[in-house]
Amino acid sequence: TTIAFAFVLAAYLIGSLSFAVIVSRAMGMADPRSYGSGNPGATNVLRSGKKLAAVLTLLGDGLKGWVAVALAAHFAPQNGLGEQLIAMSAIAVLVGHMWPLFFGFKGGKGVATAVGVLFGFNVWLALAAVATWLFVALVLRISSLSALIAAVLSPVYAFFIIGPHSVYFGSCIVIAFLVVQRHKSNILNLLGGQETKIGDKADGSS
Ligand code: G3P
Repeated sequence: TTIAFAFVLAAYLIGSLSFAVIVSRAMGMADPRSYGSGNPGATNVLRSGKKLAAVLTLLGDGLKGWVAVALAAHFAPQNGLGEQLIAMSAIAVLVGHMWPLFFGFKGGKGVATAVGVLFGFNVWLALAAVATWLFVALVLRISSLSALIAAVLSPVYAFFIIGPHSVYFGSCIVIAFLVVQRHKSNILNLLGGQETKIGDKADGSS
């Protein structure tokens, strides 16, 4: 229906707001696509050395994931639409973040936005994913590896927390697939022992 299409389009457009680029511009910093990993995400913005910008990027990218899902969850029942619309909005906001309309389709890897989406699905599911990310990050201090492990485990958590028959379980599989495939360069770096640690700056200082 038209309403469903409008929701999915809105989610894609919300996702297209790349907060790494927006926050960096607003704070008079270099475009995050020009240094470090070149990724417009909180991890790479942190490599600029500006912690506040990284935190704002994380919050903005996370919040937009939650907003897209919450909007769909709020309005879907009123329009006779079900969980399918919420799931489609979740994927659309992530696709927007990864291939943003406003920024030449050069987007991020979807970690913060995926966490926001998970909060929209189920708070416990999101907390399990965040705890996994934090645990791996505290032990190994590698952002991408933490994200990869949390992404792969999120469908497992969804299976046990929400159940295999929920559309959210299927969504988590799609989300994990998207996040992993956006981390191809990180996976190569990890295999080659080249991946940078959290706190390492783009100019090599720490
Ligand atoms: O959140 C993205 C993170 O997992 C990897 O970012 O900049 O290290 O490629 P980056």
